[in-house]
Amino acid sequence: MAKGALLALSALLALCVATLWKPLLRRATVLGFLRSQEEFRNIHGDIAPLKISNTVHCEDLHYHAESGKLYTACEGVEHTRRHWFPPLGHTDRHDHDGQGMIVVVDPITLEATELALTGFTGHFVTHGIDIFPSEDGRTMTIFAVNHLPNPEYGESQNESVSLQKARSQIEVFSHTINSDTAVWIGSIRHARIRTPNDIFATSPTSFYVTNDHYYRDGRMRFVEDLLEYNTGAWSDVLHVDFATDTVDALTEVTVTNGLAKVHNPNGLGHTTRPDEVLLSDASGGDLLVMGRDLANNTSKALTLRSRIQLDSTIDNPSYYYDLYATAGNNASGYVLAGLPFAHTLGQAARTVDVPIPTMVWHVRENAIGNHDIMMIFQDDGKLLRSASTAVLVGINPASNGGKKQAWLFVTGYVSEAMVVARVNL
Ligand SMILES: *[C@@H]1O[C@H](CO)[C@@H](O)[C@H](O)[C@H]1NC(C)=O
Ligand SMILES: *[C@@H]1O[C@H](CO)[C@@H](O)[C@H](O)[C@H]1NC(C)=O
Ligand SMILES: *[C@@H]1O[C@H](CO)[C@@H](O)[C@H](O)[C@H]1NC(C)=O
Ligand SMILES: *[C@@H]1O[C@H](CO)[C@@H](O)[C@H](O)[C@H]1NC(C)=O
Repeated sequence: MAKGALLALSALLALCVATLWKPLLRRATVLGFLRSQEEFRNIHGDIAPLKISNTVHCEDLHYHAESGKLYTACEGVEHTRRHWFPPLGHTDRHDHDGQGMIVVVDPITLEATELALTGFTGHFVTHGIDIFPSEDGRTMTIFAVNHLPNPEYGESQNESVSLQKARSQIEVFSHTINSDTAVWIGSIRHARIRTPNDIFATSPTSFYVTNDHYYRDGRMRFVEDLLEYNTGAWSDVLHVDFATDTVDALTEVTVTNGLAKVHNPNGLGHTTRPDEVLLSDASGGDLLVMGRDLANNTSKALTLRSRIQLDSTIDNPSYYYDLYATAGNNASGYVLAGLPFAHTLGQAARTVDVPIPTMVWHVRENAIGNHDIMMIFQDDGKLLRSASTAVLVGINPASNGGKKQAWLFVTGYVSEAMVVARVNL
């Protein structure tokens, strides 16, 4: 009897270890516990990479192929994110001076131009953005997350009302392409937009937005980061619609579920397919290729098409369309920046100088429908301190001595500057 029970118990234990082992190993790999910091080497492409001036703490990055320009949003100054940057759980000081900016980078001259934000006043704590070009190609709508402090926090005399420290919103701008200004249209706030991270624009007046965490701070937020899609799918992706002439009115904003119950939904990106949405589970290191139903305009639901597991945490996904593809070498695919040692981020991000190493993955579909995953950039965190978005801009082999290469632009939310490297594809 006792022996039988013992056997059953051992079998149960073995089963537990067997089922838990794979996810545990995956979590340990992605969070960087199994990677050697001593053996970590820089991979910088075939020439020394450059830092781009006036790009302090930029997080998101989008390439607008028609104008050949890169769009990003930056903090603009160092030191403030240590105390106030809700996406990292930094909410200890409200008297921040976050005065971020939207910046356009010319990938050829490497000149970064700050857009004058006409009509916009107040603080701007930047994070994810998206751009939505108009049909005639002359203008675009720019959507940008702004992590403002909650003006009501600390003022309530009612102890039973727990007010959040941050009251993040989305700023909407209209920008004439090739101009140096963006005109502020309004701000969008809604109780369900809690921890906005990134935006996927679906029209000049609608978008998807990720709430990157269910827990805003504290121990449970840490637990949320340690878990993965099987165990910690607690947050969501929302679809937001608003009326243009009443954008400032909170009541005119309609919010529906894009995707309920997802783990750490972080970055959003476009591919060449209009019905496709790239979504990253950041701490899970998981790229989700989602579909949306364009035939039914009342359906906002995102459905999973495929998922690609990376060996590090990842951030905002981008898609590279290879104009110079040949039968033997088609480099079209996903480009993902991430952290090789994500488990050290919490401590390092609280300082201004502890390096935060970075890496960039390039994922392309191979002939048999699987994915080839290549690492195309790696830095010890001294050149690029933290990484959030990586974008490839192809170089025509005909003007490059036949070499198939691209410029790789990488941003980091606490990096001194955006970095550009030349990589082989
Ligand atoms: C405090 O807030 C709670 C919840 O909103 C409410 O029920 C209660 O009446 C408030 N108390 C006072 C004194 O305002
Ligand atoms: C939804 O799609 C139908 C059919 O394509 C169209 O007639 C209708 O105007 C659309 N509604 C909205 C709100 O876009
Ligand atoms: C369109 O989507 C809505 C919301 O998901 C759903 O209720 C409706 O049945 C769909 N219509 C069609 C024709 O599939
Ligand atoms: C390269 O691959 C992409 C993605 O599979 C595809 O859309 C594109 O047509 C391909 N290009 C060529 C020249 O085959």
